[in-house]
Amino acid sequence: MYKPVTTLTDFVLEEERKSKDATGDFTMLITHIENAVKIIASHVRMSGLVDIMGATGNKNAFGEDVQKLDEFANKLLVDNLRKSGHVYAVISEEMEKPAYAKEGQRGAYIVYIDPLDGSSNIDTNCPTGTIFSIYKTDGDNLLQKGSRQVAAGYAIYGSSVMLVYSAGNGVNGFTLDPNIGSFLLSHPDIKIPQKMKSYSINEAYESLYDEGLKSYLAYVRQTGGYTSRYVGSGVADAHRTLVKGGIFLYPANKKHKEGKLRLMLEVNPLAYLAEQAGGVAVSLNKTSPLTIMPTKIHQRAPFVMGSHEEVDLFLKYA
Ligand code: AHG
Ligand code: MN
Ligand code: MN
Repeated sequence: MYKPVTTLTDFVLEEERKSKDATGDFTMLITHIENAVKIIASHVRMSGLVDIMGATGNKNAFGEDVQKLDEFANKLLVDNLRKSGHVYAVISEEMEKPAYAKEGQRGAYIVYIDPLDGSSNIDTNCPTGTIFSIYKTDGDNLLQKGSRQVAAGYAIYGSSVMLVYSAGNGVNGFTLDPNIGSFLLSHPDIKIPQKMKSYSINEAYESLYDEGLKSYLAYVRQTGGYTSRYVGSGVADAHRTLVKGGIFLYPANKKHKEGKLRLMLEVNPLAYLAEQAGGVAVSLNKTSPLTIMPTKIHQRAPFVMGSHEEVDLFLKYA
């Protein structure tokens, strides 16, 4: 029986057509990301079979172990985006400095990427992802508030491959149909359930958390009815929270005084999606991370996202 399907390209084109100064540029940019994501997904799927799995033995500019797939995903995305003609610069978690497009190839967008989020999970077959955050080019200025994102999203390499995306009109999820190689709209207009007694935080760091957070954790554990879910792969924890509700926290702690997640690369895109899905995101001073004026491309920030009721409960203790 015939059933109409919407591909990611159909969907983005349709959205772009609604804007009065549409040029097709934005759709092309998303298509470049989509193509890179499909290649990364196929490598992630093969990682147990080919000699691409495991650590390279090298550290990145921030002293973190670089996985081979981190390196691969980074090169692929950065090269493709720089050459696409649609970006001014690409800023990646894996590179200390921005990668500028060559003169003559510079385009209208700045793209921040976390090429492979949760990469320490590759060897154990847990979900990983690719996060992207898109801004309009603004002279030489790469630092803009998260509220100026024109789109953000992630791919999740899990039991299926999904691309979840928003350009400011709600959040839509597309699942890769492996038979035809296209992302098809499978989760239209995702809305975070307003309440869900599920919390997600690395509880091993409890002794490093502040008193407010400790008392919040004591409450959710003792009151009952709450369940705990923590993958340790930010995309997976955020995706579960978007779809099922609850709360996901990566707060500051005594060791990571600014938190661990990167404001521009992880926190802002996930916060944008949470807000677009009718949920809440908070960071410093209990306000939305999207209001923070960044001072460095790799700046870190505390991050909490989730259902309205669950974030409100956390804020009573924080
Ligand atoms: P990345 O793999 O891009 O470096 O990110 C890892 C992040 C994020 O995916 C996750 O939320 C967090 O690290 C988990 O950190 P802990 O192991 O400290 O809980
Ligand atoms: Mn990450
Ligand atoms: Mn990463």
